[in-house]
Amino acid sequence: MERLLKKILTGITPTKEEKIMEKKTAEKIINKIRKMKGKHIEVQLCGSLARDTHLRGYRDIDIFVLFPEKMPRAEFEKEGLRIGRQTFNGKNCWEEYSEHPYIKGIFNGFEIEIVPSYKVKKASLLKSSVDRSPFHQKFLSKKLDNEKRKEIRLLKAFLKGIDCYGAKIEKEGISGYLAELLILKYGSFKEFLKAASNWKPGITLSLSTKPIKPKKEFNAPLVFIDPTDNKRNVAAALSEEQFARVIAASQAFLEKPSKKFFYPKRKTSISKKRMKKLIAVDQVFALRMPFPKKVPSDIIWGQMRKFNKLLRKRLESEDFIVRRISLYAEEGKEINYFIELESIELNDTIIFKGPPAWNTEHSMAFLKKHRSPLTGPRIENAHWVVEEKRKHKNAVALTKKFLKERKKVEKKPFKNALSKAELLEKKEFLRKARTSGFFKYNLSRFLEGKESFL
Ligand code: CTP
Ligand code: MG
Repeated sequence: MERLLKKILTGITPTKEEKIMEKKTAEKIINKIRKMKGKHIEVQLCGSLARDTHLRGYRDIDIFVLFPEKMPRAEFEKEGLRIGRQTFNGKNCWEEYSEHPYIKGIFNGFEIEIVPSYKVKKASLLKSSVDRSPFHQKFLSKKLDNEKRKEIRLLKAFLKGIDCYGAKIEKEGISGYLAELLILKYGSFKEFLKAASNWKPGITLSLSTKPIKPKKEFNAPLVFIDPTDNKRNVAAALSEEQFARVIAASQAFLEKPSKKFFYPKRKTSISKKRMKKLIAVDQVFALRMPFPKKVPSDIIWGQMRKFNKLLRKRLESEDFIVRRISLYAEEGKEINYFIELESIELNDTIIFKGPPAWNTEHSMAFLKKHRSPLTGPRIENAHWVVEEKRKHKNAVALTKKFLKERKKVEKKPFKNALSKAELLEKKEFLRKARTSGFFKYNLSRFLEGKESFL
């Protein structure tokens, strides 16, 4: 394993030239902002670049502009945006939104975030969640050494390879900061793997050697108390599914270390023959819509995930047995849902089983409710039974109806996507795969349904 890891490390560590370029670019920007007129008290490089724990080819620079704590929110936001825009002379930059608006822009081939933040005394006194970053920076810069940096890079690349890297809602994985803390906790990538392969949901970690009592009850599969603020779970974004994936991949890697965990073979598509074979045995249909342009990714991802849950609930409420609904989406491309059921077509009728006939009160109510059934009422095994016509016997038709209903209540930007939604039955899959590469790729992933690290 050591030889493999050494080789991987060479591939994922930024080159000297890269680092020089990054540093030059960051310094140029920081100096420019420092010289600007304004109420900002400090300009600071944060994130992985500042700590030298970023991966090769990484092109993001996070710059924090600190404002006095007492500055009113409205002025703070306005000033933050002004300084951001001025940094790029108003060119090649745009507004983004997380907890408050900030400016992102391109300079020297880097994507640079100018994040306004309040300078608070302690991370726990934060006014917005980004205010913690300077504390993370201060904390980690004292704890990291070159050995740890190597181990952090390995862990980040591993998580990236198994598709669990990043705390954004589209990933629900492990953030860069959490990866850094996990290495501080366990000492090395290998020790992390050993520990993670034994994680169970509900595990609570911290850097403290004393037993920890979190300040707050957290409802998450993994809790890692932020060393700069014990009210925060650094792993709050990690979903149960991704938690399970990290565990399984750690076990699999320890069993058989391989390059493929870091560089998964992402087949563009499975063969047409295999595709046909798998489509033939499955009860599936798909839903395709365009990905709305220029919208905050947290918002659209929240809406897409919620739609997934609602559709499942609706199908289940009409007796369909849902095996899985898989969501694949990418900015600039499309949104794909694949719905797999036990059966797309149900029986024409439903059997309602009532109370035993000697239960007079309930029997009366049951018979009153089913006044004109298709057949019955009859007594079967002592119970009242009626047969009624089913309202929705086809899942595709029901989904179509559901789409219409949702269009009325859904909010932008998902509402716009919904109005261009296209329902595809499986006989249309291959034809669509010929015209949309994105659909073909996702269809392959869905049909094959296999973890990339196996
Ligand atoms: N941060 C955080 N929690 C998150 C995301 C970000 O606390 N879920 C803070 C951290 O202090 C982090 C900083 O915001 O260092 C910058 O965020 P980001 O660029 O997403 O992470 P990096 O640590 O820079 O890691 P990466 O190499 O992935 O960029
Ligand atoms: Mg970063």
